Amino acid sequence: MCGIVGYVGTQQASTRPLEVVLEGLRRLEYRGYDSAGVALVAPDGGGLSTAKKAGKLANLVGELQAHPLPVASAAIGHTRWATHGAPNDVNAHPHVAGPIALIHNGIVENFAVLKAELLADGVQFRSETDTEVAAHLLARAYAETGDLSAAMCGVARRLEGTFTLLAVHADLPDVVVGARHDSPLVVGLGEGENFLGSDVAAFIAHTRDALELGQDQVVTLSPDGVEVTDFFGVPAQGRRYRVDWDAAAAEKGGFASFMDKEIHDQPQAVGDTLLGRTDLAGNLVLDDLRIDESVLRSIDKIVVIACGTAAYAGHVAKYAIEHWCRIPVEVELAHEFRYRDPVVGPRTLVVAISQSGETMDTLMAVRHAREQGAKVLAICNTHGSTIPRESDAVLYTHAGPEIAVASTKAFLSQITAAYLLGLYLAQLRGNKFPDEIAETFDQLRAMPERIQTVLDRADAVRKAARELADVPSVLFLGRHVGFPVALEGALKLKELAYIHAEGFAAGELKHGPIALIDEGQPVFVVVPSPRGRDSLHSKVISNIQEIRARGARTLVIAEDGDDAVEAYADDVFYVPQCPTLLSPLLATVPLQVFACELATARGLDVDQPRNLAKSVTVE
Ligand code: G6P
Repeated sequence: MCGIVGYVGTQQASTRPLEVVLEGLRRLEYRGYDSAGVALVAPDGGGLSTAKKAGKLANLVGELQAHPLPVASAAIGHTRWATHGAPNDVNAHPHVAGPIALIHNGIVENFAVLKAELLADGVQFRSETDTEVAAHLLARAYAETGDLSAAMCGVARRLEGTFTLLAVHADLPDVVVGARHDSPLVVGLGEGENFLGSDVAAFIAHTRDALELGQDQVVTLSPDGVEVTDFFGVPAQGRRYRVDWDAAAAEKGGFASFMDKEIHDQPQAVGDTLLGRTDLAGNLVLDDLRIDESVLRSIDKIVVIACGTAAYAGHVAKYAIEHWCRIPVEVELAHEFRYRDPVVGPRTLVVAISQSGETMDTLMAVRHAREQGAKVLAICNTHGSTIPRESDAVLYTHAGPEIAVASTKAFLSQITAAYLLGLYLAQLRGNKFPDEIAETFDQLRAMPERIQTVLDRADAVRKAARELADVPSVLFLGRHVGFPVALEGALKLKELAYIHAEGFAAGELKHGPIALIDEGQPVFVVVPSPRGRDSLHSKVISNIQEIRARGARTLVIAEDGDDAVEAYADDVFYVPQCPTLLSPLLATVPLQVFACELATARGLDVDQPRNLAKSVTVE
């Protein structure tokens, strides 16, 4: 949560620092949009100037047009997701203490103790934030040392909690200093200019050369250099890499919203996640898996940990991996996992699923699992992020940048990666014959085209969404792998349209949820394939009849050729046939389109829903 951008470049005062930082904030706004602010440093004694405004970035841009800041040579910028203190102008970052301006992502857990100490010293606070203590501490440390990097090291050593800090000083027009502890920070390497960002999107328009920082490091950026140390000033090295996507991938590309674009990116996201996974002999190879094969052969349990949409990808993984590999799979919300004394050990494989690789609850669960001796494999979409760095192995999804706060293409890519893992384990452990694995892999390879077919037919879903734009509640039913699809469909609608939406296991209907059915209540039903387990299909058809008889408006997702649903459905959205276990890759798509269209019809911002942030980097 919170997006951070830093820039230092031209030795001359220019408009570029502000332009770069505003452009970076625009790309990071998905991380939080409660307020935004910038601080600029001008050369030749021009000093520090700041502007900040509650609300979305557009408010700050308006403020800067009304009251322009002097041209500068260095800049930092922040977009906030509020934790401590209301989202107003005063609590917006940067926070200024004497000649220092500072921005922060994370939570300073010991801020009350530090604040008491500073108050006793006569320091006056302006905001209600935890961040302001860091600004005052830095000003005090700089006054003592006269060295901004050393002062930042000292501050970082005193803070508890999670933080990325960036700071500039009024007298240092060619320096930006940053510190990182459990929150993300990446360096962008330019020519005669350098960048900092919470993720590479912040500077992708200017450079694709990046430097990954480790935990507990301080970075000092100047136009021609980047120096990295630990919190004690001991020199350290970052890892250079080249970002494998460009600025165009982070633009809307003609779609009305990022969400709409990302829904349409899904055939490619799934296809790219499958690329390069077989060797010449057709065997599955996952070359970014660094756990010894003998260890993987000996595991007796898999525990998937994740939050939000990623956790629903974990539910789908459970059905597939248990079926293919005969290994018990538990799925646990990451924030619950750590606090309930989970039984894990050296023969447990913990699979952490996270699009961002920065979700704090998931990161903490990863650390806990490793402390218990478990091996951790991360399924992640963001290279160089914290969760893969701290895991024993990584299986990267190749969904490209996901900007809309509500996850879509990352979800399908996570499911795809989980299938790959399941097939890989089945191959390694001999649960399946090579030809069976090859056949399933061929089926997987056919999925992008089938997803495209679902997208091509989506107008009917959009029409239903517009008709239902004013309903107070929508229910979702699914069974087997259709159950997590129902949960995800409900989550999308809650996130985007702010209406009550709930997903149920269809088998649970008569145990309670059926009491919610009333005249006109819209209910999506994800119907299993009639070519799968017979009994499942007919039981769900019975469920549709039961709710229809009680007045529900039934919106049914069924596979091509399933005529049995027509008699009981008000709307049927057909998806192509595919093996049952792979069907979530298709059945989810109409539900994403439905939520996006319904929220749009209600006049809501689908890319930046209220109160949410894309990466939840605080617990
Ligand atoms: C937030 C986002 C969700 C996302 C979840 C997990 O809640 O709004 O869209 O599914 O975090 O994020 P991760 O980056 O760990 O997949």
